[in-house]
Amino acid sequence: MDSGSDFIEPASTDDDSSVLTSDHAAITSDYDPTVYDQQGDTASLVGSVTSSVNEHVYENGRRYHKYKSGRYPIPNDDKEAVRESVRNALVLELVGGCLHLAPIGDNPQNIMDIGTGFGDWAIDMGDRYPSARVVGLDLSPIQSVWIPPNVEFVVDDVEDNAWIHGSDYDLIHLRMTAVILRRPANVAATAFTHLKPGGWIEFQEVYPRIGCHDDTMPDDYVVARFYKLAGRELQRQHGWDLYAAEHLPGQLEKIGFVNIQRKVCHVPIGYWPKDRQRMQHAFLFEEALTEFMAAMQAKPLNTNVHNIASLDDDGTFMTAHDIDSLCADVRAALCARNVHAFIQFHFVWAQKPL
Ligand SMILES: C[S@@+](CC[C@H](N)C(=O)[O-])C[C@H]1O[C@@H](n2cnc3c(N)ncnc32)[C@H](O)[C@@H]1O
Repeated sequence: MDSGSDFIEPASTDDDSSVLTSDHAAITSDYDPTVYDQQGDTASLVGSVTSSVNEHVYENGRRYHKYKSGRYPIPNDDKEAVRESVRNALVLELVGGCLHLAPIGDNPQNIMDIGTGFGDWAIDMGDRYPSARVVGLDLSPIQSVWIPPNVEFVVDDVEDNAWIHGSDYDLIHLRMTAVILRRPANVAATAFTHLKPGGWIEFQEVYPRIGCHDDTMPDDYVVARFYKLAGRELQRQHGWDLYAAEHLPGQLEKIGFVNIQRKVCHVPIGYWPKDRQRMQHAFLFEEALTEFMAAMQAKPLNTNVHNIASLDDDGTFMTAHDIDSLCADVRAALCARNVHAFIQFHFVWAQKPL
C-alpha cells in the first residue's frame, strides 16, 4: 500500500478539537409485485420476484429476515430502522455530510450499495447522481418503495452467490458491512471484477477498539468490555470480525486495488466534549449503541439461546442478569463525563487500476 496516501491525523488531547486520524438461485427484487407491474418500464434488471423473500421471521419480540433465515442476527424492524438512521446521521456528520469520499466524479453511471439495509444511502445517492443507476443489495426486503427512478433494490446474499447484478460499476460501497461479512476480502475481490477500470470501492466501518486521550479510562472500562463480549460472540456464532477495518487496506492491496486511503474519525463516548459538534456525535453514538445493545440482547447475547462464557475466563457462564447489568453500566457510561473515551469510525477507499 502506498503509505503516503494513507492519512491519519493523530488523536488530540484537546477536547475542543474534532479529531480525525484514518449468489445461481433465483435472484429477487423486493418491490411489491403490484407496484412493480404498474411500473413496467422501470422493471428491475436483476431478476424475478418470489414472495418468500418478502416475508419475515419473528423471534424474541423482534423481526428478522426470512431469506437465508438466521444468516444475520440483528433485527430488521422499526427499532432497527431508527438505529440505522441515527448511525447514518452520525457517519454523515463525521465527514461533513459527504455520502462518499472516493472521487467518483460528477457523472457516475453505476453504483452498488452492498448490505444496503433500509437503503438510505442508496436513495440519497440516487438523488445526488441522477446520471447513475444505483443498486442496493441486502438479505432483507426492508427498503422503501418510494424511491428515485434510478434506484433499485435486490434481495441477495452477497457471500453465497456469483453476482449477476451488472458490472462496470463506478463505485461499490459498503457501510457498516465489512464487520458483518464472514469473508469481506472475498466480497472485495468480487467487487474488483465488477468495477470498471478506475472505479472505486469504499468501506465506512465502525472500529470498536476503545481509546482514550488521557488516563481517565479504567482498564476494565465497561464499554470496552461490552465490545469485547459482542465481538467474541459475533465471531464465535457468525464468524464476524468487528475489527475488520484494521485489515482492509492490506486486503485491498493484495487484490490489486491502488490509491488506497483511510480516514479515521474519533467519536466521543460520554458527555465529555466541550465542543458542541463533538457532543452531538456523542449523543448520536449513545442512541445508536443503546439500540445495538437491545438488538444484541434479543439474540446473540440471549442466554436462553446461547451459553455465554464469562469475560473473566473463570469457567462460568453469564446469566441474563449479568448481561442486563453490563448493558445498564454501558448506558450509564454513555452519559458520563469523567472518562474521556472514544470509538473510531474508519473510511477506507481504493481504486481499481485504469
Ligand atoms: C449493519 S447493517 C448496515 C446497513 C447499511 N449499510 C447502513 O449503513 O445503514 C448490515 C446490513 O447487511 C445486510 N447483510 C448481512 N449479511 C448480508 C449478506 N450476506 N448479503 C447481503 N446483505 C447482508 C443485513 O441485512 C443488514 O441490512
